[in-house]
Amino acid sequence: MRLDKYLAQMSMGTRSEVKKFIKSGRVFVNGAPASGPEQKVTEEDDVELDGEKVSYERYVYYMLNKPQGVVSATKDNTCRTVLSLITDGTKKDLFPVGRLDKDTEGLLLITNDGVLSHDLLAPGKHVWKTYFVRVQGILEDKDIERLENGMDIGDDRMTLPAKVKRLDAVSLSLSADDPGYPGDTESCLELSIREGRFHQVKRMLAGVGHPVLYLKRLSMGSLRLDEALKQGEYRRLTPEEIAALQKK
Ligand code: URA
Repeated sequence: MRLDKYLAQMSMGTRSEVKKFIKSGRVFVNGAPASGPEQKVTEEDDVELDGEKVSYERYVYYMLNKPQGVVSATKDNTCRTVLSLITDGTKKDLFPVGRLDKDTEGLLLITNDGVLSHDLLAPGKHVWKTYFVRVQGILEDKDIERLENGMDIGDDRMTLPAKVKRLDAVSLSLSADDPGYPGDTESCLELSIREGRFHQVKRMLAGVGHPVLYLKRLSMGSLRLDEALKQGEYRRLTPEEIAALQKK
């Protein structure tokens, strides 16, 4: 690939910025000054900018704290997409791993690694996903049992057994203006499921008579939402987070 494309893809600057770096002699290839932006390089070449090695990364992995109001798609004619929030880097082939509804917040993995995405989403892999949920009404033991046992939500198969952790308002360290904070006639829970059916959490909770008022994904497999990320913020996964996901 062209040297300017390589540097831009590795987030060293925009295409026009990296052209300037090359022309001003700041870029070396295999120890020699780069001949120009069009010089061809491969992943094996040793590329340096200002004396620092620029290694080629084929795949990139971002953790996004998805806000409400954006859609989990690569393109949409009417609504902002999650990809429009990723403003560093120039990789053109990014996509979200699975979908969160427009009004759901929280953990969304964005990558260009199709194999990892398939491994996390394939129905047979049963990767656990955990959600924080605020629902209407007071959740009773019988509701929790139905969620935990597997239930009929109108599909041809029952849901697989879920894990439920009831959360009480006192133990939640949320301020009263947090969207997760339960009102007097509402309940909060952590729900873990290992399928990814359409609107699954909302349909399960509606099925036990407790419509969802607020939904946030906390984890997917080994990956847990970094609570330091505010809504709409993102960061690269660490090498340890990537390795743990790949192990799954
Ligand atoms: N289940 C839902 O109902 N909505 C989501 O966004 C994710 C899981």
